[in-house]
Amino acid sequence: MKLMAICGSARKQGNTAKMLRQVMKGAESAGAETEYVNLFDLTYTSCISCYACKLKNSKSFAHCTLNDDLKPLLERIEKTDALVLGSPVYYGNLSGQMRSFTDRLLFQYLDYGGRGTGPKPKVFKTALVATMNMNRDDCLKRGVYDSLVWFSEVIGHTLGSSELLTLTDTVLFDDYSKYVYLMPDLEEKSHRIEKISPEDLKKAFDLGVRLVCS
Ligand SMILES: Cc1cc2nc3c(=O)[nH]c(=O)nc-3n(C[C@H](O)[C@H](O)[C@H](O)COP(=O)(O)O)c2cc1C
Repeated sequence: MKLMAICGSARKQGNTAKMLRQVMKGAESAGAETEYVNLFDLTYTSCISCYACKLKNSKSFAHCTLNDDLKPLLERIEKTDALVLGSPVYYGNLSGQMRSFTDRLLFQYLDYGGRGTGPKPKVFKTALVATMNMNRDDCLKRGVYDSLVWFSEVIGHTLGSSELLTLTDTVLFDDYSKYVYLMPDLEEKSHRIEKISPEDLKKAFDLGVRLVCS
């Protein structure tokens, strides 16, 4: 059993990376092999809508033909059992790196018939972990949660299954006094001892166990 964690934040010690590391620990505790990939270490483009992956009776069917750093990654993913995608929320969406990656990953397997029985190589267990500065109430009120749920369902439909874990109210800076930040939660965040609560870290750990056990 192998789980791959893919990070769409450039911050190697950031909230997303920490949550993904916990997911990996959970998976490892259940005996899985793990691999961590940071998309910011790779050079690639988004989907160029060539539709080669939709061409009937062709070698390119169900495969992205672009030849950049995502090619070997997409090949390794086909040999992986569980996949966890982690991204910070940027302007209500996933990061650009993560969106470009998911366009390339998902579109090759999309079946334009819509039942999710398309040409994916296997049924993957997947999860999306999204981290954001806003609190849970704002995340719900502003429609961010709904759009993450929708995208998680798209991943599940295309790859076999998916679940969503959100981390809200994140700490952005080690030292808030050095940065311009005028939000009302400044005082609380600058003095917070645990950058990520033990409960949230446990949720990520448990997710890792679930992804490789069930
Ligand atoms: C370009 C940019 C846009 C952002 N947009 C949002 C946003 O729309 N909503 C939000 O809650 N946080 C937003 N944030 C904050 C990050 O989502 C948040 O700090 C996240 O936890 C960062 O993850 P990281 O530590 O893994 O990089 C934004 C940050 C950046 C750099």
